[in-house]
Amino acid sequence: MTNTIKTKVGIIGGGPSGLMLSQLLDLKGIDNVVLEKHTRDYVLSRIRAGVLEHGFAELMREAQCGARMDAEGEIHEGFFINDNGKMHRVDLAGHTGGNSVVVYGQTELTRDLYDAREKMGGNVIHEALDVAIHGADSDSPALTYRQGDETFRVECDFIIGADGFHGVSRKSIPRDVLKEYEKIYPFGWLGVLSRTKPVSPELIYSRTERGFSLCSLRSQVLSRYYIQVPLTDSVEDWSDEAFWDELKRRLPDDVAAGLETGPSIEKSIAPLRSFVAEPMRWGNLFLAGDAAHIVPPTGARGLNSAASDIYYLYHGMIAHYLDGDSSGLETYSAKALARVWKAQRFSWWMTTMLHNFPNHPDYDQKLQEVELSYLLSSDAAMASLAENYVGLPF
Ligand code: FAD
Ligand code: DHB
Repeated sequence: MTNTIKTKVGIIGGGPSGLMLSQLLDLKGIDNVVLEKHTRDYVLSRIRAGVLEHGFAELMREAQCGARMDAEGEIHEGFFINDNGKMHRVDLAGHTGGNSVVVYGQTELTRDLYDAREKMGGNVIHEALDVAIHGADSDSPALTYRQGDETFRVECDFIIGADGFHGVSRKSIPRDVLKEYEKIYPFGWLGVLSRTKPVSPELIYSRTERGFSLCSLRSQVLSRYYIQVPLTDSVEDWSDEAFWDELKRRLPDDVAAGLETGPSIEKSIAPLRSFVAEPMRWGNLFLAGDAAHIVPPTGARGLNSAASDIYYLYHGMIAHYLDGDSSGLETYSAKALARVWKAQRFSWWMTTMLHNFPNHPDYDQKLQEVELSYLLSSDAAMASLAENYVGLPF
Protein backbone atom coordinates (compact mmCIF):
# COMPACT_ATOMS: atom_id res chain seq x y z
CA MET A 1 0.00 0.00 0.00
CA THR A 2 1.23 3.49 -0.80
CA ASN A 3 0.65 6.28 1.75
CA THR A 4 -0.15 9.66 0.22
CA ILE A 5 1.03 13.01 1.59
CA LYS A 6 -0.31 16.27 0.13
CA THR A 7 1.76 19.45 0.34
CA LYS A 8 2.56 22.57 -1.68
CA VAL A 9 6.32 22.19 -2.10
CA GLY A 10 8.19 18.87 -2.10
CA ILE A 11 11.89 19.40 -1.37
CA ILE A 12 14.51 16.72 -2.10
CA GLY A 13 17.62 17.06 0.10
CA GLY A 14 18.07 18.07 3.73
CA GLY A 15 21.35 19.96 3.26
CA PRO A 16 21.60 23.71 3.85
CA SER A 17 19.66 24.58 0.64
CA GLY A 18 16.68 22.33 1.31
CA LEU A 19 16.42 23.10 5.03
CA MET A 20 16.76 26.85 4.53
CA LEU A 21 14.01 26.97 1.90
CA SER A 22 11.77 24.73 4.00
CA GLN A 23 12.16 26.99 7.03
CA LEU A 24 11.59 30.23 5.10
CA LEU A 25 8.48 28.89 3.34
CA ASP A 26 7.03 27.52 6.56
CA LEU A 27 7.42 30.93 8.22
CA LYS A 28 5.19 32.32 5.42
CA GLY A 29 2.65 29.54 5.90
CA ILE A 30 3.64 27.68 2.73
CA ASP A 31 3.39 23.99 3.53
CA ASN A 32 6.34 21.80 2.48
CA VAL A 33 8.01 18.44 3.02
CA VAL A 34 11.77 17.69 2.97
CA LEU A 35 13.02 14.24 1.92
CA GLU A 36 16.59 13.46 3.04
CA LYS A 37 18.16 10.11 2.25
CA HIS A 38 20.63 10.07 5.17
CA THR A 39 20.26 10.34 8.94
CA ARG A 40 20.57 13.70 10.64
CA ASP A 41 23.83 12.57 12.32
CA TYR A 42 25.30 11.66 8.95
CA VAL A 43 24.41 15.03 7.42
CA LEU A 44 25.94 16.77 10.44
CA SER A 45 29.16 14.75 10.23
CA ARG A 46 30.14 16.27 6.86
CA ILE A 47 32.74 18.99 7.36
CA ARG A 48 32.38 21.51 4.57
CA ALA A 49 32.06 25.26 4.24
CA GLY A 50 33.25 27.76 6.80
CA VAL A 51 32.84 31.21 5.26
CA LEU A 52 29.43 32.87 4.89
CA GLU A 53 28.82 36.02 2.97
CA HIS A 54 26.72 38.85 4.32
CA GLY A 55 23.66 37.89 2.21
CA PHE A 56 23.71 34.35 3.55
CA ALA A 57 23.93 35.58 7.14
CA GLU A 58 20.94 37.86 6.46
CA LEU A 59 18.94 34.93 5.11
CA MET A 60 19.74 32.91 8.26
CA ARG A 61 18.37 35.80 10.33
CA GLU A 62 15.26 36.04 8.15
CA ALA A 63 14.79 32.29 8.71
CA GLN A 64 14.94 33.04 12.47
CA CYS A 65 18.05 30.86 12.68
CA GLY A 66 20.73 33.52 13.14
CA ALA A 67 21.01 33.78 16.93
CA ARG A 68 23.83 31.26 17.48
CA MET A 69 25.60 32.36 14.28
CA ASP A 70 25.55 35.96 15.55
CA ALA A 71 26.76 34.92 19.00
CA GLU A 72 29.42 32.37 18.04
CA GLY A 73 30.37 33.21 14.43
CA GLU A 74 33.36 35.46 13.84
CA ILE A 75 33.17 38.58 11.67
CA HIS A 76 36.21 38.71 9.38
CA GLU A 77 37.06 41.99 7.71
CA GLY A 78 40.05 40.65 5.81
CA PHE A 79 42.28 37.69 5.00
CA PHE A 80 45.87 37.07 3.95
CA ILE A 81 47.45 35.92 0.72
CA ASN A 82 50.86 34.33 1.20
CA ASP A 83 52.79 34.64 -2.06
CA ASN A 84 55.72 32.24 -1.66
CA GLY A 85 56.60 33.38 1.87
CA LYS A 86 55.45 37.02 1.66
CA MET A 87 52.19 37.87 3.42
CA HIS A 88 49.75 40.43 1.98
CA ARG A 89 46.46 41.41 3.63
CA VAL A 90 43.23 41.73 1.64
CA ASP A 91 41.24 44.45 3.38
CA LEU A 92 37.67 43.32 2.67
CA ALA A 93 36.03 46.05 4.73
CA GLY A 94 38.26 48.81 3.38
CA HIS A 95 37.53 47.87 -0.23
CA THR A 96 33.77 47.31 0.14
CA GLY A 97 32.58 50.18 2.32
CA GLY A 98 32.68 48.11 5.51
CA ASN A 99 31.45 44.74 4.29
CA SER A 100 32.73 41.49 5.83
CA VAL A 101 32.16 37.71 5.97
CA VAL A 102 31.08 35.48 8.86
CA VAL A 103 33.22 32.48 9.80
CA TYR A 104 30.68 29.90 10.97
CA GLY A 105 30.79 26.22 10.02
CA GLN A 106 28.28 24.59 7.69
CA THR A 107 27.85 21.87 10.32
CA GLU A 108 26.69 24.39 12.93
CA LEU A 109 24.48 26.22 10.46
CA THR A 110 22.82 22.96 9.39
CA ARG A 111 22.31 22.03 13.05
CA ASP A 112 20.60 25.43 13.62
CA LEU A 113 18.32 24.83 10.62
CA TYR A 114 17.41 21.32 11.82
CA ASP A 115 16.66 22.67 15.32
CA ALA A 116 14.46 25.41 13.87
CA ARG A 117 12.58 22.93 11.66
CA GLU A 118 12.01 20.68 14.66
CA LYS A 119 10.79 23.57 16.82
CA MET A 120 8.22 24.59 14.18
CA GLY A 121 7.12 21.01 13.67
CA GLY A 122 8.48 21.01 10.10
CA ASN A 123 8.13 17.83 8.09
CA VAL A 124 11.74 16.67 7.50
CA ILE A 125 11.81 12.98 6.64
CA HIS A 126 15.15 11.22 7.10
CA GLU A 127 16.23 7.96 5.50
CA ALA A 128 13.83 8.55 2.62
CA LEU A 129 15.17 6.04 0.09
CA ASP A 130 14.71 5.59 -3.67
CA VAL A 131 13.27 9.08 -4.09
CA ALA A 132 11.79 9.39 -7.59
CA ILE A 133 10.25 12.34 -9.43
CA HIS A 134 7.00 11.92 -11.39
CA GLY A 135 5.30 14.33 -13.79
CA ALA A 136 7.70 17.23 -13.19
CA ASP A 137 6.57 18.75 -16.51
CA SER A 138 2.87 18.27 -15.70
CA ASP A 139 0.38 20.14 -13.49
CA SER A 140 0.38 17.35 -10.91
CA PRO A 141 4.00 16.58 -10.00
CA ALA A 142 4.73 14.01 -7.31
CA LEU A 143 7.57 12.34 -5.44
CA THR A 144 7.72 8.76 -4.28
CA TYR A 145 10.07 7.26 -1.72
CA ARG A 146 10.52 4.24 0.50
CA GLN A 147 11.07 4.11 4.25
CA GLY A 148 11.66 0.59 5.51
CA ASP A 149 8.97 -1.58 3.92
CA GLU A 150 6.56 1.29 3.36
CA THR A 151 6.23 3.39 0.21
CA PHE A 152 5.02 6.97 0.16
CA ARG A 153 3.77 9.40 -2.47
CA VAL A 154 4.10 13.18 -1.99
CA GLU A 155 1.67 15.14 -4.18
CA CYS A 156 2.67 18.78 -4.55
CA ASP A 157 2.58 21.90 -6.75
CA PHE A 158 6.35 22.21 -7.09
CA ILE A 159 9.41 20.02 -6.61
CA ILE A 160 12.71 21.51 -5.42
CA GLY A 161 15.84 19.55 -6.28
CA ALA A 162 18.21 20.52 -3.46
CA ASP A 163 19.88 17.12 -3.32
CA GLY A 164 23.48 18.07 -4.01
CA PHE A 165 25.75 17.17 -6.90
CA HIS A 166 25.08 13.40 -6.76
CA GLY A 167 21.30 13.63 -6.25
CA VAL A 168 18.45 12.41 -8.46
CA SER A 169 16.84 15.72 -9.43
CA ARG A 170 19.21 16.89 -12.12
CA LYS A 171 19.37 13.37 -13.57
CA SER A 172 15.57 13.37 -13.89
CA ILE A 173 15.67 16.17 -16.46
CA PRO A 174 15.75 14.87 -20.06
CA ARG A 175 19.21 15.00 -21.64
CA ASP A 176 17.98 17.09 -24.57
CA VAL A 177 16.69 19.77 -22.18
CA LEU A 178 19.77 20.10 -19.97
CA LYS A 179 23.14 21.50 -20.99
CA GLU A 180 26.03 20.77 -18.64
CA TYR A 181 29.27 22.76 -18.44
CA GLU A 182 32.19 21.21 -16.58
CA LYS A 183 35.85 21.78 -15.78
CA ILE A 184 37.88 19.30 -13.75
CA TYR A 185 41.09 20.44 -12.06
CA PRO A 186 44.11 18.11 -11.88
CA PHE A 187 44.32 18.16 -8.05
CA GLY A 188 42.26 17.93 -4.86
CA TRP A 189 42.25 19.43 -1.37
CA LEU A 190 43.25 17.35 1.63
CA GLY A 191 41.43 18.88 4.63
CA VAL A 192 42.13 18.39 8.33
CA LEU A 193 40.03 19.53 11.27
CA SER A 194 41.85 19.68 14.62
CA ARG A 195 41.18 20.89 18.14
CA THR A 196 44.03 23.38 18.06
CA LYS A 197 44.33 27.15 18.24
CA PRO A 198 44.18 28.63 14.71
CA VAL A 199 47.60 29.71 13.44
CA SER A 200 46.21 33.11 12.41
CA PRO A 201 43.17 35.16 13.47
CA GLU A 202 42.36 35.63 9.75
CA LEU A 203 42.40 33.06 6.93
CA ILE A 204 45.64 32.55 4.97
CA TYR A 205 45.45 31.48 1.31
CA SER A 206 48.96 30.42 0.22
CA ARG A 207 50.48 30.08 -3.21
CA THR A 208 53.84 28.33 -2.96
CA GLU A 209 56.15 26.32 -5.19
CA ARG A 210 55.03 23.17 -3.32
CA GLY A 211 51.36 23.93 -3.99
CA PHE A 212 48.38 25.73 -2.47
CA SER A 213 47.40 25.70 1.20
CA LEU A 214 44.63 27.31 3.23
CA CYS A 215 44.57 28.03 6.96
CA SER A 216 40.99 28.46 8.15
CA LEU A 217 39.14 28.03 11.40
CA ARG A 218 35.83 27.24 13.01
CA SER A 219 36.51 28.89 16.38
CA GLN A 220 39.45 29.91 18.54
CA VAL A 221 39.89 26.26 19.59
CA LEU A 222 39.04 24.53 16.30
CA SER A 223 41.20 24.85 13.18
CA ARG A 224 40.55 23.81 9.59
CA TYR A 225 43.50 23.42 7.22
CA TYR A 226 43.77 22.34 3.60
CA ILE A 227 46.65 21.47 1.27
CA GLN A 228 46.58 20.87 -2.49
CA VAL A 229 47.35 17.19 -3.26
CA PRO A 230 47.53 15.16 -6.50
CA LEU A 231 44.28 13.42 -7.47
CA THR A 232 46.08 10.08 -7.12
CA ASP A 233 46.60 10.60 -3.34
CA SER A 234 44.26 9.05 -0.81
CA VAL A 235 43.67 9.93 2.84
CA GLU A 236 45.63 6.82 3.92
CA ASP A 237 48.73 8.28 2.23
CA TRP A 238 48.74 11.15 4.71
CA SER A 239 49.54 10.59 8.39
CA ASP A 240 48.80 13.57 10.64
CA GLU A 241 52.53 14.14 10.97
CA ALA A 242 53.05 14.20 7.19
CA PHE A 243 50.14 16.66 6.83
CA TRP A 244 51.50 19.09 9.44
CA ASP A 245 55.03 18.90 7.98
CA GLU A 246 53.73 19.70 4.48
CA LEU A 247 51.48 22.51 5.70
CA LYS A 248 54.46 24.10 7.50
CA ARG A 249 56.49 24.00 4.29
CA ARG A 250 53.70 25.97 2.58
CA LEU A 251 53.68 28.79 5.15
CA PRO A 252 56.12 31.65 5.81
CA ASP A 253 58.74 30.53 8.40
CA ASP A 254 57.49 32.80 11.17
CA VAL A 255 53.89 31.65 10.68
CA ALA A 256 54.92 27.95 10.52
CA ALA A 257 56.86 28.41 13.77
CA GLY A 258 53.59 29.34 15.52
CA LEU A 259 51.51 26.48 14.10
CA GLU A 260 49.93 24.41 16.86
CA THR A 261 49.54 20.79 15.74
CA GLY A 262 47.43 17.97 17.17
CA PRO A 263 45.50 14.85 16.17
CA SER A 264 43.11 15.27 13.25
CA ILE A 265 39.46 14.79 14.17
CA GLU A 266 38.45 14.69 10.49
CA LYS A 267 40.53 14.17 7.37
CA SER A 268 39.18 13.99 3.83
CA ILE A 269 40.07 14.73 0.22
CA ALA A 270 37.78 16.80 -2.02
CA PRO A 271 38.40 16.84 -5.78
CA LEU A 272 38.14 20.28 -7.40
CA ARG A 273 35.52 20.76 -10.07
CA SER A 274 33.52 23.54 -11.73
CA PHE A 275 30.07 22.56 -12.99
CA VAL A 276 26.87 24.28 -14.12
CA ALA A 277 23.63 22.74 -15.42
CA GLU A 278 21.26 24.90 -17.47
CA PRO A 279 18.37 25.60 -17.21
CA MET A 280 17.71 25.38 -13.47
CA ARG A 281 13.99 24.79 -14.05
CA TRP A 282 12.17 22.11 -15.97
CA GLY A 283 8.37 22.35 -15.75
CA ASN A 284 7.56 22.38 -12.04
CA LEU A 285 10.98 21.08 -10.96
CA PHE A 286 13.47 23.70 -9.75
CA LEU A 287 17.14 22.90 -9.08
CA ALA A 288 18.95 24.72 -6.26
CA GLY A 289 22.48 24.72 -4.80
CA ASP A 290 25.00 21.95 -5.54
CA ALA A 291 22.33 20.02 -7.50
CA ALA A 292 22.74 22.60 -10.27
CA HIS A 293 26.26 23.96 -9.86
CA ILE A 294 29.49 23.42 -7.99
CA VAL A 295 32.69 25.40 -7.75
CA PRO A 296 36.22 24.59 -6.60
CA PRO A 297 36.29 25.70 -2.94
CA THR A 298 39.05 28.33 -3.34
CA GLY A 299 36.75 31.35 -3.40
CA ALA A 300 34.40 30.06 -0.65
CA ARG A 301 31.43 30.44 -3.01
CA GLY A 302 29.64 27.04 -3.02
CA LEU A 303 27.31 27.42 -0.08
CA ASN A 304 26.94 31.11 -0.79
CA SER A 305 25.77 30.41 -4.35
CA ALA A 306 23.22 27.98 -2.92
CA ALA A 307 21.97 30.82 -0.71
CA SER A 308 21.25 33.10 -3.65
CA ASP A 309 19.25 30.33 -5.39
CA ILE A 310 17.20 29.93 -2.23
CA TYR A 311 16.66 33.68 -2.00
CA TYR A 312 15.27 33.84 -5.57
CA LEU A 313 13.13 30.72 -5.10
CA TYR A 314 11.77 31.89 -1.76
CA HIS A 315 10.73 35.27 -3.15
CA GLY A 316 9.30 33.61 -6.27
CA MET A 317 7.22 31.26 -4.11
CA ILE A 318 5.96 34.05 -1.83
CA ALA A 319 4.83 36.10 -4.85
CA HIS A 320 3.16 33.03 -6.36
CA TYR A 321 1.28 31.87 -3.26
CA LEU A 322 0.60 35.16 -1.49
CA ASP A 323 0.12 37.59 -4.43
CA GLY A 324 -0.79 35.27 -7.32
CA ASP A 325 2.23 36.56 -9.25
CA SER A 326 4.32 33.81 -10.89
CA SER A 327 6.84 36.07 -12.64
CA GLY A 328 9.55 35.36 -10.01
CA LEU A 329 9.26 31.63 -10.64
CA GLU A 330 9.22 32.19 -14.42
CA THR A 331 12.48 34.14 -14.28
CA TYR A 332 14.13 31.99 -11.57
CA SER A 333 16.51 30.07 -13.82
CA ALA A 334 17.80 33.13 -15.68
CA LYS A 335 18.22 35.21 -12.50
CA ALA A 336 19.92 32.43 -10.56
CA LEU A 337 22.26 31.51 -13.43
CA ALA A 338 23.40 35.11 -13.92
CA ARG A 339 24.76 35.13 -10.37
CA VAL A 340 25.94 31.52 -10.48
CA TRP A 341 28.20 32.25 -13.45
CA LYS A 342 29.80 35.20 -11.65
CA ALA A 343 30.62 32.89 -8.73
CA GLN A 344 31.99 30.37 -11.25
CA ARG A 345 34.26 33.02 -12.75
CA PHE A 346 35.54 34.14 -9.35
CA SER A 347 36.20 30.59 -8.10
CA TRP A 348 38.00 29.65 -11.33
CA TRP A 349 40.10 32.82 -11.10
CA MET A 350 41.11 32.25 -7.45
CA THR A 351 41.85 28.58 -8.15
CA THR A 352 43.92 29.29 -11.26
CA MET A 353 45.90 32.05 -9.58
CA LEU A 354 46.80 30.19 -6.39
CA HIS A 355 47.40 26.51 -7.27
CA ASN A 356 50.35 24.67 -8.70
CA PHE A 357 49.35 23.25 -12.09
CA PRO A 358 51.34 20.17 -13.07
CA ASN A 359 52.41 20.37 -16.73
CA HIS A 360 51.48 24.03 -17.05
CA PRO A 361 53.26 25.49 -20.11
CA ASP A 362 55.89 28.14 -19.19
CA TYR A 363 53.68 30.84 -20.69
CA ASP A 364 50.73 29.97 -18.44
CA GLN A 365 53.10 29.85 -15.46
CA LYS A 366 54.27 33.39 -16.23
CA LEU A 367 50.69 34.61 -16.58
CA GLN A 368 49.81 33.08 -13.22
CA GLU A 369 52.72 34.91 -11.58
CA VAL A 370 51.83 38.25 -13.15
CA GLU A 371 48.14 37.83 -12.25
CA LEU A 372 49.05 37.57 -8.56
CA SER A 373 51.68 40.31 -8.63
CA TYR A 374 49.22 42.63 -10.41
CA LEU A 375 46.53 41.88 -7.82
CA LEU A 376 48.89 42.56 -4.93
CA SER A 377 50.01 45.87 -6.44
CA SER A 378 46.66 47.26 -7.59
CA ASP A 379 43.96 48.79 -5.43
CA ALA A 380 41.42 48.33 -8.23
CA ALA A 381 42.21 44.60 -8.54
CA MET A 382 42.05 44.19 -4.74
CA ALA A 383 38.67 45.96 -4.71
CA SER A 384 37.36 43.49 -7.31
CA LEU A 385 38.59 40.53 -5.25
CA ALA A 386 37.02 41.97 -2.10
CA GLU A 387 33.69 42.71 -3.81
CA ASN A 388 33.39 39.12 -5.01
CA TYR A 389 34.62 37.50 -1.77
CA VAL A 390 32.09 39.30 0.44
CA GLY A 391 29.39 38.38 -2.11
CA LEU A 392 27.79 40.16 -5.03
CA PRO A 393 24.27 41.48 -4.38
CA PHE A 394 21.36 39.03 -4.83
P1 FAD B 1 24.39 19.41 -0.05
O1 FAD B 1 25.04 20.04 1.15
O2 FAD B 1 25.18 18.45 -0.84
O3 FAD B 1 23.04 18.74 0.45
C1 FAD B 1 22.28 17.86 -0.36
C2 FAD B 1 21.52 16.90 0.53
O4 FAD B 1 20.73 16.06 -0.30
C3 FAD B 1 22.45 15.98 1.32
O5 FAD B 1 22.11 16.02 2.68
C4 FAD B 1 22.23 14.59 0.70
O6 FAD B 1 22.35 13.55 1.64
C5 FAD B 1 20.80 14.73 0.16
N1 FAD B 1 20.52 13.83 -0.97
C6 FAD B 1 21.34 13.49 -2.00
N2 FAD B 1 20.73 12.66 -2.84
C7 FAD B 1 19.48 12.43 -2.34
C8 FAD B 1 18.39 11.65 -2.76
N3 FAD B 1 18.47 10.91 -3.86
N4 FAD B 1 17.27 11.66 -2.02
C9 FAD B 1 17.18 12.40 -0.89
N5 FAD B 1 18.21 13.18 -0.43
C10 FAD B 1 19.35 13.19 -1.15
N6 FAD B 1 31.02 26.75 0.22
C11 FAD B 1 31.13 28.04 0.68
O7 FAD B 1 30.26 28.85 0.35
N7 FAD B 1 32.15 28.45 1.51
C12 FAD B 1 33.15 27.60 1.86
O8 FAD B 1 34.02 28.00 2.65
C13 FAD B 1 33.11 26.24 1.34
N8 FAD B 1 34.07 25.34 1.67
C14 FAD B 1 33.96 24.04 1.23
C15 FAD B 1 34.95 23.14 1.60
C16 FAD B 1 34.87 21.83 1.17
C17 FAD B 1 35.97 20.87 1.56
C18 FAD B 1 33.73 21.37 0.39
C19 FAD B 1 33.62 19.92 -0.04
C20 FAD B 1 32.73 22.27 0.05
C21 FAD B 1 32.83 23.61 0.45
N9 FAD B 1 31.85 24.53 0.12
C22 FAD B 1 31.98 25.84 0.53
C23 FAD B 1 30.68 24.13 -0.68
C24 FAD B 1 29.44 23.82 0.18
O9 FAD B 1 29.74 22.90 1.17
C25 FAD B 1 28.28 23.33 -0.72
O10 FAD B 1 28.10 24.24 -1.77
C26 FAD B 1 26.96 23.15 0.07
O11 FAD B 1 27.01 21.99 0.87
C27 FAD B 1 25.74 23.02 -0.88
O12 FAD B 1 24.58 22.80 -0.14
P2 FAD B 1 23.35 21.99 -0.76
O13 FAD B 1 22.31 21.95 0.32
O14 FAD B 1 22.99 22.57 -2.07
O15 FAD B 1 23.91 20.53 -1.06
C1 DHB C 1 36.96 27.17 4.14
C2 DHB C 1 36.81 26.54 2.94
C3 DHB C 1 37.05 27.25 1.79
O1 DHB C 1 36.91 26.68 0.61
C4 DHB C 1 37.43 28.57 1.81
O2 DHB C 1 37.69 29.22 0.65
C5 DHB C 1 37.55 29.20 3.01
C6 DHB C 1 37.31 28.49 4.18
C7 DHB C 1 36.73 26.41 5.39
O3 DHB C 1 36.39 25.22 5.32
O4 DHB C 1 36.90 26.97 6.47
